[in-house]
Amino acid sequence: MTSWWRRGAVYQVYPRSFADSDGDGVGDLRGLRAHLDHLTGLSVTAVWLSPVFPSPMADFGYDVSDHCDVDPLFGTLADLDDLVADCHARGIRVVLDWVPNHTSDQHPWFRASRSSREDPKRNWYVWRDGAPDGGPPNDWRSEFAAVGPAWTYDEPTGQWYLHSYTPQQPDLNWEHPEVEAAMHDTIRFWLGRGVDGLRIDALQRLAKDPLLRSNAGSDRRHDQDWETAHGRLRGIRRVVDEFPDRMVVGEVYLLDLRRVLAYLTGGDQLHLAHNFVFVHLPWDAGAFRAAIEEFEAQAEPEAWPAWFLGNHDHSRIATRYDDGGHGPARARAVALLLTALRGTPFLYQGDELGLPDAIVPPDRVVDVDGRDPERAPLPWRPPSVAGAGAGFTTGEPWLPLVADAERLCVERQAADPSSTLSLVRRLGELRAASTALQTGRQRMLDAAPDVLAWLREDGDERLLAAVNLGLGPRTLVPGEEATLLVSTDPGRPSSVVRDLVLQPDEAVLLRLHGG
Ligand code: NOJ
Repeated sequence: MTSWWRRGAVYQVYPRSFADSDGDGVGDLRGLRAHLDHLTGLSVTAVWLSPVFPSPMADFGYDVSDHCDVDPLFGTLADLDDLVADCHARGIRVVLDWVPNHTSDQHPWFRASRSSREDPKRNWYVWRDGAPDGGPPNDWRSEFAAVGPAWTYDEPTGQWYLHSYTPQQPDLNWEHPEVEAAMHDTIRFWLGRGVDGLRIDALQRLAKDPLLRSNAGSDRRHDQDWETAHGRLRGIRRVVDEFPDRMVVGEVYLLDLRRVLAYLTGGDQLHLAHNFVFVHLPWDAGAFRAAIEEFEAQAEPEAWPAWFLGNHDHSRIATRYDDGGHGPARARAVALLLTALRGTPFLYQGDELGLPDAIVPPDRVVDVDGRDPERAPLPWRPPSVAGAGAGFTTGEPWLPLVADAERLCVERQAADPSSTLSLVRRLGELRAASTALQTGRQRMLDAAPDVLAWLREDGDERLLAAVNLGLGPRTLVPGEEATLLVSTDPGRPSSVVRDLVLQPDEAVLLRLHGG
């Protein structure tokens, strides 16, 4: 039996923006529970929730102040248990975000650590004296450009603490065995409650040069991806393996595939890794093919691919690849691409609607790193019917909705067979019914210039997928008779074909007849 995390797509829910049940303008667990039909309609195998733990929300939940509870903004622990039970009843697994690199500065561990140099938790975080010139201990910078140095001086105890993100997110000191043990216990807490897996946040940050040397003048970074990361990850995996049939997917934000694969291979680290090389690809068939083949050549059969092109940290697919109006069609092509590639697709909420980035006026900006546009609330119903909250909330949404919520909302798209939502639902059904798509062999084809094309095969089932990334029409000749199963062009009829002319940004999936 194919493991659940290989079979179908994982759907990422950004809980603040999914559905609000209590009118405070922020999404919550009850809102999500009330909309599980939407997930079932997409045939997804699992849902990954961005953090719902208690948090002062300096980084919208990625600043955790208690790893083993739910923030009242989202509901209660009982709500989360109910959500897990409801998802399981529908055959959907639940993956939680696990943030091991840092905590909130309001976490009791950091409060204790900060209280005095003698506190037993002092070394649970990274404290250092300043440089002789009075500046920070070294040249490390926060991941967020607007934050600047990765160090903040703390007056009461006269030392600096490290934060790879905002100053409200002090880095834990993973050199300390007590930190490792305490974080392992938080994994046991959730997996013991029936949660099916974890998405590990910022995994590459878990190990730094213990000597804290500066990056300048060195041919490598000292503030991430240190060798010790792998032993730490194996320790995490051993805890996960205390529970049957669980999965860990890592955010390994490194733009060098070989470095990413070092976290995936060996069978004792990650099950899946988010490949950020892929997210940064230009709209170019050769670039996509090279990235796919590079993964195959370097990682398979040992490691299983995961493919994604959108999440809560990156401009929406429909905006990123818009290039003068191509966005909506390319978002549809990406949906087919992710469904038909060998590997686990990850779908970020709203991508099934082809949402673009929202326009966020300066007085509504809340994120320090410019990520508000891709975090806009999901439009469920037309504002003309449901009011300005578009069925997301009855209150004032925490971020503005996308401009065209009227047309892009779930209700409208569900009623339109040619919508992006209808296409994504159909793709989910096709994948759920096809072992060739789930686990079949894959071979890239030289189909036509600018056309990314590949075969998926399992037993008698042979499928051909193709995406035209060019700016003009391209002729695709499968070499044998084929049935068109789906095209991203809603105008193209399903039919038996010997060849077909793909329009720019069109993607198709064909069943080959043989011979
Ligand atoms: C990666 C998360 O996806 C991002 O949203 C967050 O700001 C950082 N890690 C820090 O936790």
